[in-house]
Amino acid sequence: MPSIDPKPVKINYDEYLSYESVHRVRSELKALRPYFELPGMISFGGGYPHPSTWPINGMTLSVPFAKSSAFVPGYGVSTPEQLLPQAPYTAPLKGEALSSHLSTELQYGSPYGAHHFVKWLKEHVRRIHNPPNENWDVLNTAGNTDAVDGIFRTLCNRGDSLLVEEFAYPGTLTTAETMGISCVGVTMDNDGIDPTALDEVMENWDEEKRGSRKPRMVLMVPTCSNPTGSTTPEYRKRELYAVCRKHSLLIVEDDPYCFLQIRPNGADSPIIPTFLSMDVDGRVLRLDSFSKIVAPGSRCGWLTGPTELVSRVMMRSECSTQCPSGFSIAAISTVLRAWGSHEGFENNYLPYISNIYKERCLFMINLFEKYLPKSTCEWPEGSGGMFLWVRLKTEAHPEITTLSPEDISNRVFKQAIDERVLLAQSRYFKSAGGKEWTKEEEAKRIYLRLCFANPTLEDMEEGVQRFARALKREFKLE
Ligand SMILES: Cc1ncc(COP(=O)(O)O)c(C=O)c1O
Repeated sequence: MPSIDPKPVKINYDEYLSYESVHRVRSELKALRPYFELPGMISFGGGYPHPSTWPINGMTLSVPFAKSSAFVPGYGVSTPEQLLPQAPYTAPLKGEALSSHLSTELQYGSPYGAHHFVKWLKEHVRRIHNPPNENWDVLNTAGNTDAVDGIFRTLCNRGDSLLVEEFAYPGTLTTAETMGISCVGVTMDNDGIDPTALDEVMENWDEEKRGSRKPRMVLMVPTCSNPTGSTTPEYRKRELYAVCRKHSLLIVEDDPYCFLQIRPNGADSPIIPTFLSMDVDGRVLRLDSFSKIVAPGSRCGWLTGPTELVSRVMMRSECSTQCPSGFSIAAISTVLRAWGSHEGFENNYLPYISNIYKERCLFMINLFEKYLPKSTCEWPEGSGGMFLWVRLKTEAHPEITTLSPEDISNRVFKQAIDERVLLAQSRYFKSAGGKEWTKEEEAKRIYLRLCFANPTLEDMEEGVQRFARALKREFKLE
């Protein structure tokens, strides 16, 4: 296992700030916030609505026991033994982590998030990642999309280049491209970005040819990646960290599927160490989200990173979302409390959620084994999350000498649509600026992304059978 020299490399964060961030104008009024919070302060200073005008007295949240759902028919549970216990209710003390109170949460609040909630998030970060560099802070975000937007605005200028995985999450690519940031895909293998390829891109960067200064940041989705479903192991993360250190790159760790990874020794074994957990220098900005573990509509997540940079992203939040949604914080705090805070969250709640996806992942792979013709495609073992990345063997297609690999992908896609099954082609996830491949190489880099998270088990089986028929027809196997 490669090690990281524990002596921190000093980072001057000012050198990384965008024009927008450096020139951000901050209302002096915002600087009054700490005074509002001093005990005994009578404030004529802020423009806070009167709580009696809020048409809300409280919220009642129905937190189901695991294995029952009001939303999905058939997800009722038959025997009490199948239910996971929730924590016994104890009224929270004021200021205690997760001590939600709507009278504060529905008011304009700190842009970092409600104190009790951020306190919980910080403790969570300490328990799970224990960042070796003590200079870190947490910002409650409206999810990872919001955090990515905040980071780009804070750290990238129009015309900059951003390093991403060869196959990257399109939400990130479009956010970047819209801001005039060029995404450059770095070659991947089954373990994520190839460190040698990352090193080469940085070593050989030609500012004139690229029309852009050397990249200063690499963004990765290291766990159960979207789209590839692959998970970067610890040894690879350490190698990548060393390359980033060598080239003074900041690392954006976009990790919404972190807790959906299949743990080799079951739920009791720890997760694969994160980039944040090995961040000696303070070069990691880590993005977590409640989207995949509570609900996407919660629009709630958190950013962890060097204090200086987190405060800069906070200033951008001040000008966009102002502060996180109080409804969301109240609801999520209640769910986390009901499950028993950190212990219950880590030992009961997360294993329960990740097990649902694990079973789906393995079920889907079984269906592939049963129905898909192996001469047309291959698939990985599956590391959890929501996606499987099926490689189309375009090199074995009967018309590969006359068609391009992409043409074959388009034709398979079309055949699948005719069969009424929808797949996502790998070209949707590719950014310009990556390595140029020969036709032979390209033929081995054509994939389809299949999401197994949502359909019923019956539809999964029917869908895979339809996909198999589409493949057989396109590869002239029938
Ligand atoms: C890799 C990746 N990043 C970010 C997001 C968006 O997450 P959020 O709902 O927290 O904005 C997704 C959602 O699909 C994703 O797959």
